[in-house]
Amino acid sequence: MPEAYGRRSAEYIALLGDMSATAEADRRFVGAWARTLPEGRILDVGCGPGHWTNWLHQQGMTVVGIDPTPEFVAHARQRYPEVSFRSGRAENLDVEDAGVAGILAWYSLIHLPPDAVPGVLTECARVIEPGGGLLLGFFTGPEIEAFDHAVTTAHFWPVDTLERMVGDAGFVVTDRDRRVDPGARPHGAIAARRIG
Ligand SMILES: C[S@@+](CC[C@H](N)C(=O)[O-])C[C@H]1O[C@@H](n2cnc3c(N)ncnc32)[C@H](O)[C@@H]1O
Repeated sequence: MPEAYGRRSAEYIALLGDMSATAEADRRFVGAWARTLPEGRILDVGCGPGHWTNWLHQQGMTVVGIDPTPEFVAHARQRYPEVSFRSGRAENLDVEDAGVAGILAWYSLIHLPPDAVPGVLTECARVIEPGGGLLLGFFTGPEIEAFDHAVTTAHFWPVDTLERMVGDAGFVVTDRDRRVDPGARPHGAIAARRIG
């Protein structure tokens, strides 16, 4: 997986690695979520080129970008030297229990095998403090279904199914989004709060 992104990292960065490539509706959704978080560190899990991490930093948040693709971590560190980035993956966040105020996983859990997602949500619940927040961005569809993403296999997720899994992991869902932009695959997002 990191190898697949590594091979196409320059192309990904050129096409999508800047906030100018993001939708205003997504910036509103992510920004509104971030403002509800308790004071503390946010992890941007699967941060890719680091543009969302830097954007959160610019909003005044303390944020660390984590990604398993070394090319993305190197790019992010070089482009945003004032922001923290490190190598890591969602399955093992290498953070103490209740150690962060929030986790943004924006289009980064889409490549996990579906049966790995509950475990990753439990790992997120472990590291998010009670009252902290989780925000997922993903491709949505009527069923869990694999498709040939430009880089490597990804999955569509029904919002309801993912919402149930998020609840089962110890969160209460506070907001959701579903949208189809012209020429794009259907977008879904779920914001949730860690139950104390
Ligand atoms: C579609 S990109 C999204 C990147 C960024 N969040 C964005 O919105 O542009 C998917 C990212 O997930 C990362 N990724 C893949 N498997 C991962 C895993 N198990 N844990 C964390 N990140 C992962 C990839 O390296 C890649 O940077």
